Amino acid sequence: MKLPFFHKKEEESVLYPNENIAEHIAIIMDGNGRWAKKRGMPRIAGHKEGVSTVVNIVKTAVNCKVKILTLYTFSTENWKRPKTEIEFILRLPKEFLSIYLPDLIANNVRIEIVGDIEKLPVHTREAIEYAMERTRNNDGLLLNFALNYGSRDEILNAMKEMFLDITKGEFSLDELDEQKFSNYLYTAGMKEPDLLIRTGGEIRLSNFLLWQLAYTEFWFTDVLWPDFSEKDFLQALKEYGNRKRRYGGL
Ligand code: FPP
Repeated sequence: MKLPFFHKKEEESVLYPNENIAEHIAIIMDGNGRWAKKRGMPRIAGHKEGVSTVVNIVKTAVNCKVKILTLYTFSTENWKRPKTEIEFILRLPKEFLSIYLPDLIANNVRIEIVGDIEKLPVHTREAIEYAMERTRNNDGLLLNFALNYGSRDEILNAMKEMFLDITKGEFSLDELDEQKFSNYLYTAGMKEPDLLIRTGGEIRLSNFLLWQLAYTEFWFTDVLWPDFSEKDFLQALKEYGNRKRRYGGL
């Protein structure tokens, strides 16, 4: 039985696409600060509102049977922001999970994290690790939080670990291929994103999944993350469904 979080009222019923669904969707959730500024509110109000959008989009992804949703929540570059804003953002995973973990479990969602978790505050890490443990046997949507994530940092760490394994003789340089290298990334074992969505009007990748996005379809919108709706998400899915992916072939 579904819990109220995922329950839809009759009058809200929406047609969810059932073919050519992007299996892995990665999102750069941009525009929280501007959303708040437009309303004369502090930036953190935008991040708070951004959590409601996360709830909506997770719900829609579950309903559309998306397999993986990777959300760029805090980057390795975000440490340059004011301390109060950093602390606020890094408290959000715990707040979100303290409210929604039972609903996520009831809907077969598995929680994972990509990024260097060692440098996160203990409360953030513990909340996510607890949720990972509680959901590890779920095989519905994989909800992946990118936290203290930076693609260059990820690639460098992967190279260091791989180099150690090569010097230990676990395999030779000749045996190294793309698949082997991918296994050293935080996303090891995950299908690469089919669709990248970036909200907030900027047309850049901001150090997100640089290796993994090699053949991903991109979809950009000016809509600020707190305003990003189920309708916008379904529009992105629909446009993705109409694209022809050729992976360099014909
Ligand atoms: C970028 O917008 C947004 C972030 C760095 C934080 C993203 C966090 C959330 C959306 C909430 C996460 C939710 C959960 C459940 C953990 P920005 O601040 O750079 O916006 P701006 O470009 O308008 O300044």
